[in-house]
Amino acid sequence: MEIVLSGIRPTGNLHLGNYYGAITSFLKLQEEYKSYFFIADWHSLTTHPTPENIQNSVRTILSEYLACGVDPEKATLYVQSHVPEVLELYLYLNMNAYLGELERVTSFKEKARKQPDNVNAGLLTYPTLMAADILIHRANKVPVGKDQEQNMEMARKFGRRFNTMYHTDLFPEPASFSLAKEGGIKIPGLDGSGKMGKSEGNCIYLYDEPSVIRKKVMKAVTDAGPQTPNSQRPEIIENLFTLMRVVSKPETYAYFDEKWNDCTLRYGDLKKQLAEDIVLATDPIRERIKQFYADTEYLDKVAKMGAEKARESASATLKEVRRIIGFKVY
Ligand code: TYM
Repeated sequence: MEIVLSGIRPTGNLHLGNYYGAITSFLKLQEEYKSYFFIADWHSLTTHPTPENIQNSVRTILSEYLACGVDPEKATLYVQSHVPEVLELYLYLNMNAYLGELERVTSFKEKARKQPDNVNAGLLTYPTLMAADILIHRANKVPVGKDQEQNMEMARKFGRRFNTMYHTDLFPEPASFSLAKEGGIKIPGLDGSGKMGKSEGNCIYLYDEPSVIRKKVMKAVTDAGPQTPNSQRPEIIENLFTLMRVVSKPETYAYFDEKWNDCTLRYGDLKKQLAEDIVLATDPIRERIKQFYADTEYLDKVAKMGAEKARESASATLKEVRRIIGFKVY
């Protein structure tokens, strides 16, 4: 049976990018595949969170995974740091990951520019840790948004490199997958500046109250409005349409698309509709997040069960890896 795997860094609450880029795919895939979904708490260390930060954000994301409908009975839902086997594979992969290729990764370059006083080795080897996450379960499909595509290419490269070097076919090639759009979708931010992201500060969170969602959407950047019929939309406007395409009904999208095309669109109407559709889509999740977050006993039980299942699969792969590399396995 094909294996699906994906992860999310625990750095604050889940936003619409996480939801439509990744989680909606998790919900479908967990029904049909052997699925592993995890909380990438080691990855979050690149920005040096405090112990309290870590504990709280892991608990937050776990509650949010559950509230969105990830089912710990169907999928293996675990915390990355509960599976130490990943780190050993990370070490082996790092031995064949080269400085030049790691330095060329766009997200590394961006982070290095943004945090020049903290360009640590963990940041540089972020893609090898991500590759280890994926390869440790020999995953075939990885549901992620478009922003992870370069990391996915690196994971495929490191897996292939290992296979070639040791004349093995241990690691299958992990394919990126997105339900929203083949090859991944990018959910834009509301400030017209590219993707929705926590460090970009332009997010709508699943946890946001309806009044907050409405306020954020109404404040989204727009321009003077359509001037010529059937013209191409500038990026800041296309962003609103992209959001509408994922949260609203197709006929709603078509209605506003037509208004754009015949130059009768009023952005206020579009935003009002968009805000209501976001509220509608996120409404069933908000209350559940609070309920799960309060239930420490259940969260602990889920994490423990996930760790056991994940370690079983991870240790089987690691045993093979050790044998292939030339270490004695007892
Ligand atoms: P992270 O925590 O930044 O995001 C988690 C998931 O949400 C998707 N996503 C988006 N999709 C569309 N539009 C957006 N604006 C947007 N923002 C976030 C991401 O693509 C991702 O699917 N490196 C990963 C975590 C990770 C991982 C892995 C993922 C670690 N190991 C192994 C898959 C497999 C990350 O930082 O995602």
